Amino acid sequence: MVTTTSHDSNLTPIEQAKKLAAFACAEKHVHNGCRLGVGSGSTVKYLVEYLKNAYTSGKLTNIVCIPTSFLTKQWLINAGLPTSDLDSYPELDVCIDGADEVDAQYTCIKGGGGCLAQEKIVQNASKHFYVIADHLKDSQKLGDRYNFIPIEVLPFAAQPLLRSIPAKFGGTAQLRDAVKKCGPIVTDNGNFIIDWSFEKNVENRNWQDVQIKLANTPGIVETGLFIGVTDAVFFAYPDGSVKEL
Ligand code: 5RP
Repeated sequence: MVTTTSHDSNLTPIEQAKKLAAFACAEKHVHNGCRLGVGSGSTVKYLVEYLKNAYTSGKLTNIVCIPTSFLTKQWLINAGLPTSDLDSYPELDVCIDGADEVDAQYTCIKGGGGCLAQEKIVQNASKHFYVIADHLKDSQKLGDRYNFIPIEVLPFAAQPLLRSIPAKFGGTAQLRDAVKKCGPIVTDNGNFIIDWSFEKNVENRNWQDVQIKLANTPGIVETGLFIGVTDAVFFAYPDGSVKEL
């Protein structure tokens, strides 16, 4: 159990949980001089809040933040935090990111915000990877909490992949819409996202095998499956407690 100083009674319980998780993880794992990968999503917004407070108060010095998305980059710059990229910092100490679901083996589904490719690249450049999440993301088996695996694809390959992914792996697949009837969302990399709704009742599915097969499929840039890379998960609960697993 971790204790933090991040209570904010103006927040809804779920937002409060996101903030608790972000603050607890950052307090423990972000250190002076840290080259830090900063993930994407609403939970990460609280990580940026923590970093801003710690950096402006002088509690944290000499950090550099490497964002995983266009939006995170704007948050970091607006917060006055030193911000750079993988060209200047190809090796990072720590990466902290949110997740859409985390199972009992710490396998994560990510990409609800469509930033999964950069998130995986920044995670892979980091010595340590920590996930911050509210309790609704805590599951025993992938699919208990979240319905699909986001997959970033080249636009040129989207239509064949919408057919071949369900044909090979079951379930259904659809192109993620920006706004209904206005066309697909376009990622920071100029690609599309296919949301693959997998069948939930498959016993002992080998996600590593699925990942390898998907990653070897022409036109697939990256999947939102993060397997075997998580050092710890910080889950926050409505009673204000945070568990580091
Ligand atoms: C974006 C992500 C996010 O980390 C994930 O969707 C969780 O977001 P949130 O903190 O808003 O629930 O993978 O691509």
